[in-house]
Amino acid sequence: MTGTTAETSTEKHAAPAQAEHSFGIDIGGSGIKGAEVDLANGEFVGERLKIATPEKSTPEAVAKIVAQIVAEKNWESPVGITLPSVVKDQKVLSAANIDKSWIGVDAQELFAQYLDQPFVVLNDADAAGLAEVAYGDEVARTGSVIFLTLGTGIGSAFLLDGQLFPNTELGHMMVGDAEAEHQASSAVKEREDLKYKEWVKRLDRVLEEYEKLFNPHAFIIGGGISRKWEKWGDKLTTSTPVAPAQLRNRAGIVGAAMAAQQGLKP
Ligand code: BGC
Repeated sequence: MTGTTAETSTEKHAAPAQAEHSFGIDIGGSGIKGAEVDLANGEFVGERLKIATPEKSTPEAVAKIVAQIVAEKNWESPVGITLPSVVKDQKVLSAANIDKSWIGVDAQELFAQYLDQPFVVLNDADAAGLAEVAYGDEVARTGSVIFLTLGTGIGSAFLLDGQLFPNTELGHMMVGDAEAEHQASSAVKEREDLKYKEWVKRLDRVLEEYEKLFNPHAFIIGGGISRKWEKWGDKLTTSTPVAPAQLRNRAGIVGAAMAAQQGLKP
């Protein structure tokens, strides 16, 4: 089964109540999370289900869990799936925080072996950025915006008046002598037990580098650490305005669900 049937299937389920609900699955370095999403407001419908990412996060092991989540939630309509990877034309081209055997995998071929419904696969930060555009603050829809999600790595989405330029991978940009995500992700903060002040200094340096090259109207920062924005947001010194994401760490799932409904394969 290929994702090109997504539109067909969406039409089949065109009854208003169902058309407004979709399902997103966010695959991360530590957890695989899925939820039904009400597309009228971007809220979860019922509980989010989270299963730990297997230690050996191979495509097969992860796809099995994706299928388990869909089955446990009794979801039969299209599904959106995010990966912490470059996903171009449904091919996985990188794997920074998951098993390296993902590189080169045809995501449509893989998940079709485990799922009975149409699905789309996209980068996690791209999905989260799209969710911010749809349900977040006006700033996400205005001009040139760099959306960043801070977690195990640093993910990025480039947005221009709400339109996505996919697979930008700013987390791997060299800042000084190391990749940005190796210095300023929230996992690094935890691992090195950095105080907010110390970590913000690093994030500032990363944002300054992005600012120098891309000069966006604004940065939006998401991921788990954006929930604690009040502890560190005002310590940033970049001249470009920085706003916390509105959907916090819900954004990946919501964006995946949106992509599923639209049959979107950026
Ligand atoms: C990956 C990106 C991903 C980001 C956040 C990075 O290491 O290369 O594709 O968006 O982590 O998960």
